[in-house]
Amino acid sequence: MKVRESGMPDRGMWEKFFDPCKIIIQMGLDSQVRDVVEVGCGYGTFTISVAKVISGQIHAYDIDEEMIHITQAEAEKAKLNNVNAVLRDIIADGTGLPDESVDYVMLFNILHLETPELLLKEANRILRSGGKLGIIHWNYDPSTPRGPSMEIRPKPKACIRWAEQVGFHSPKRYDLKPYHYGIVLTK
Ligand SMILES: C[S@@+](CC[C@H](N)C(=O)[O-])C[C@H]1O[C@@H](n2cnc3c(N)ncnc32)[C@H](O)[C@@H]1O
Repeated sequence: MKVRESGMPDRGMWEKFFDPCKIIIQMGLDSQVRDVVEVGCGYGTFTISVAKVISGQIHAYDIDEEMIHITQAEAEKAKLNNVNAVLRDIIADGTGLPDESVDYVMLFNILHLETPELLLKEANRILRSGGKLGIIHWNYDPSTPRGPSMEIRPKPKACIRWAEQVGFHSPKRYDLKPYHYGIVLTK
């Protein structure tokens, strides 16, 4: 099932909202990180920057075929051989990865779904002990130029509470100017 209000604007507009290279470093994605999962990769806005810096593979999932094609094409253009872009409904089917098999899970602009605990439990299952969960979302502020409606937009405190309920700890918060916040937690 597609996450509510998860449709994308055109790519040019979406990519004006972020500086992915800067954000991924702030979120702790660097050469010390081996294998990564990204749920709902969209245009690959963050996927490609992450693939360039990590030492392992990034599994980038999306339910939308066009997003997977674009992400794959961008990986080929950048001559990256560590991007595994997969068409998959993560809500219905999970990631299909073994328990404790990755080091970082990215939930970027997706935690406004109906069942956040489901996604967070799956993240916890596939992460190795000491692995990191990175959450990014639109500021809880109606003046942002996009983002889910305020009724379903999660506040940072709610994201932290949900993540702690499934076993994550040691949350660290980041201000990802101009429109987003970031949270990194540890399994
Ligand atoms: C708002 S976009 C965020 C894209 C990317 N994470 C970013 O921040 O640039 C959310 C993405 O999640 C995808 N998505 C929605 N429901 C999904 C599901 N059930 N399984 C996998 N991907 C899903 C959408 O197709 C969309 O590309």
